[in-house]
Amino acid sequence: MLLPSRVKIVEVGPRDGLQNEPKILDVATKAALVDRLGRTGLKVIEAASFVSPKWVPQMADSAAVLAAIQRLPDVAYPALAPNMQGFNAAVAAGAREVAVFGSASETFSQKNINCSVAESLARFEPVLAAARQYGIRVRGYVSCVLGCPYEGAIAPAAVARVAGALADLGCYEISLGDTIGVGTPEAAKRMIEAVAARVPLDCLAGHYHDTYGMAIANIYASLQCGVQVFDASVAGLGGCPYAKGASGNVATEDVVYLLAGLGIETGVDLDGLIDCAAWINEVLERRPASKVSLAKIGARPPPHSPTPSF
Ligand code: HMG
Ligand code: MG
Repeated sequence: MLLPSRVKIVEVGPRDGLQNEPKILDVATKAALVDRLGRTGLKVIEAASFVSPKWVPQMADSAAVLAAIQRLPDVAYPALAPNMQGFNAAVAAGAREVAVFGSASETFSQKNINCSVAESLARFEPVLAAARQYGIRVRGYVSCVLGCPYEGAIAPAAVARVAGALADLGCYEISLGDTIGVGTPEAAKRMIEAVAARVPLDCLAGHYHDTYGMAIANIYASLQCGVQVFDASVAGLGGCPYAKGASGNVATEDVVYLLAGLGIETGVDLDGLIDCAAWINEVLERRPASKVSLAKIGARPPPHSPTPSF
């Protein structure tokens, strides 16, 4: 299949990344991260999460972060909203795009958002209805698309079912999350083919965690299936609080490098991204997870140890 000439990258480092960092950043530093990412040319930066602070304390000051960022006119700053309470808080804080998040695994759904898959879809329904009224776009996530930390293998048909339900509710894009990074390229292809029979390909995004180092290979496989949107975290920040052992998302630097090598336009300045990655690694006292960053700037050991493990 012909590869696309352009790909959209959804930067999720300030949300998926920081939600799982042991060091909690202050509002000014979180906002600085979002602003630096915006200056690299990224057009979608997931900046906040309106979830229970008891469940994810790292995201507790999301309203203040949205107030502090210097919004660029052509950049979207979506925020997670698992229910009406989160949606109302996101809108009050100035969010113009939100994301709901469900799961293809029943057990993960219970552990992550404390309800069944069917209950989660029922909770999202009023969120989508209210969003339509406010003119707010809603993205949908499906977690555990290539495996679950509690249930193991997940059938592609289960992923297609939840993705289809989110699309039917009105989500404009469905991000398919390999939450614990266990997927491999042929499995990713089978999963995407199953989902694409239910949801148009141009509404799908790949969201690959890099636990087993397969994320870049999975992105290449997804490109071959026709997927044109990929989520990534600067410096490979990230993980999932309820998926033990999950490493960060694929590093944005690595995705930009891959796509540039394939002649695919992203509009992202790789050098600027590498500078941003080096800065946030230093702030968080962590080593770079990105091979591209390591190659370009060398492994700068953090000024303090120990390095957090994921
Ligand atoms: P619950 O306990 O079932 O909620 O949690 P509840 O409605 O029964 O309310 C209980 C308490 O939570 C109440 O407070 C509510 O006010 C509060 P209390 O009276 O006890 O003080 N509450 C809220 N507070 C703030 N914001 C809200 C909210 N809703 C209720 N929106 C809930 C249900 C969904 C809230 C909880 O389970 C939760 O916050 N989970 C967060 C899970 C999370 O953020 N996980 C990480 C993101 S998902 C992810 O990373 C995967 C992804 O990257 C894709 C992939 O990789 O696969 C997207
Ligand atoms: Mg994730």
